[in-house]
Amino acid sequence: STSWKLEDHPKLEKGKTIAVVVLDGWGEANPDQYNCIHVADTPTMDSLKKGNPDTWRLVRAHGKAVGLPTEDDMGNSEVGHNALGAGRIYAQGAKLVDLALASGKIYEGEGFKYIKQSFDTGTLHLIGLLSDGGVHSRLDQIQLLLKGAAERGAKRIRLHILTDGRDVLDGSSLQFVETVEKDLAELREKGVDAQIASGGGRMYVTMDRYENDWSVVKRGWDAQVLGEAPHKFRSALEAVKKLRAEPKVNDQYLPPFVIVGENGKSVGPIVDGDAVVTFNFRADRMVMMAKALEYEDFDKFDRVRFPKIRYAGMLQYDGELKLPSHYLVSPPEIERTSGEYLVHNGIRTFACSETVKFGHVTFFWNGNRSGYFNPKMEEYVEIPSDSGITFNVQPKMKALEIGEKARDAILSRKFDQVRVNLPNSDMVGHTGDIEATVVACKAADEAVKMILDAIEQVGGIYVVTADHGNAEDMVKRNKSGQPLLDKNGNIQILTSHTLQPVPIAIGGPGLAPGVRFRKDVPDGGLANVAATVMNLHGFVAPSDYETTLIEVVDN
Ligand code: 3PG
Ligand code: CO
Repeated sequence: STSWKLEDHPKLEKGKTIAVVVLDGWGEANPDQYNCIHVADTPTMDSLKKGNPDTWRLVRAHGKAVGLPTEDDMGNSEVGHNALGAGRIYAQGAKLVDLALASGKIYEGEGFKYIKQSFDTGTLHLIGLLSDGGVHSRLDQIQLLLKGAAERGAKRIRLHILTDGRDVLDGSSLQFVETVEKDLAELREKGVDAQIASGGGRMYVTMDRYENDWSVVKRGWDAQVLGEAPHKFRSALEAVKKLRAEPKVNDQYLPPFVIVGENGKSVGPIVDGDAVVTFNFRADRMVMMAKALEYEDFDKFDRVRFPKIRYAGMLQYDGELKLPSHYLVSPPEIERTSGEYLVHNGIRTFACSETVKFGHVTFFWNGNRSGYFNPKMEEYVEIPSDSGITFNVQPKMKALEIGEKARDAILSRKFDQVRVNLPNSDMVGHTGDIEATVVACKAADEAVKMILDAIEQVGGIYVVTADHGNAEDMVKRNKSGQPLLDKNGNIQILTSHTLQPVPIAIGGPGLAPGVRFRKDVPDGGLANVAATVMNLHGFVAPSDYETTLIEVVDN
């Protein structure tokens, strides 16, 4: 059993109010015209940077530093917030699925055995994001799973694709569809009845998160389960080509479509006796669909039909809800997170963001665990996000409201830690709209100022950092860093995250004079932040945590 008691820090006092600010998608990169953070008016973040290397530095936020398979893997909010909150580096979903596929263990687990029972008489449906982004899913994993399932008796397979353009370049969906169509054709040659049955853009179909807009999930349900969509095509390639040509449509926002046979009927509705796998490993944007597929009682939208299926997630998406109950690969066992420790040690905690990032500073921060550790000690506030719009239309989002809530929580003196996520630079950066992203960065900077001002008033401490890069680089580059041009000579907009490091700054009147960043953790990453924050609360971090970034020198 865990001893929750943390040792007192030998030099740092307790009782300071600490603001922990996570700027989502705010990396450090060369200052040029595609660096929206550089272009934007961001006096607060600029002043932190100009301060002093003792109180501002960079930390790693991608690749192995956050538990991803390779150094070519950009960071993302799930792994970033997991590392920030847990203080240790866990092999993440992407990696765990790779290992399970490589060893074949994925086929020996309970989840696969469960769905396999449907292979003789039912169809196997695979639903998820089709790209090589590696954030929610990965193309090569889908390819292996298709092959592996067919080799193990799946006779009829239907793939329900969600096009990306957010973790990968817009327009790349065509190439992913072509690739997977080849695989499906090969399976057909081997006698497996395999084809794409439906599709839609990830931001418009199925992959909503944190219950921002259930109509997104409903569109997916209608296409995937009911076999109904406003657009019908004979092939997915044709669907993507035709729909992308419509005004305002891109990969992220492709309208839902179904593939129909000669008779004009959907080739793959989900019916009684079928097996379904949602192949995203990341939880936030698949857990709503998982609820719709699994819960007997469900009132978020009219499912019309609730087929009796065998359903498994690639991973279990929520360990607290045990959802879904069947899964192919066990999720990382993230336990003893800093949030749980601090609550046990008397730290009253406030966490806030707007809907689209709310689970990042709660669920992801707490090791993919929903709910409070101790409701008497914690308050989590969600500010409703705008829904039904792309965030370049409202680039300020709810930054001001988040700043105000945090300010009020700090000034109330009812909390020891006030933690927020400011989504702007990420959510607007993902739209690829450079002008709007500049506005977004400015709005986030203003919110940081509000929080820092409040910390000033109560004599507290601030820790300002980010979970991964995004807005600091909005163009696809070649190896030497020059913007890549497409065949028409236009720059290729980068909607995705980056491999860049992120800043971390500490300060405030409560910061003891001798506290400074150590110089002997040059490769420090997001996982080093938890021990750092624990120190600032007056505690020594557990010995298996990644080391702290700070030291206290005698003045
Ligand atoms: C998304 O889900 O919006 C993107 O795939 C990743 O963004 P996030 O990791 O910043 O949430
Ligand atoms: Co993002």
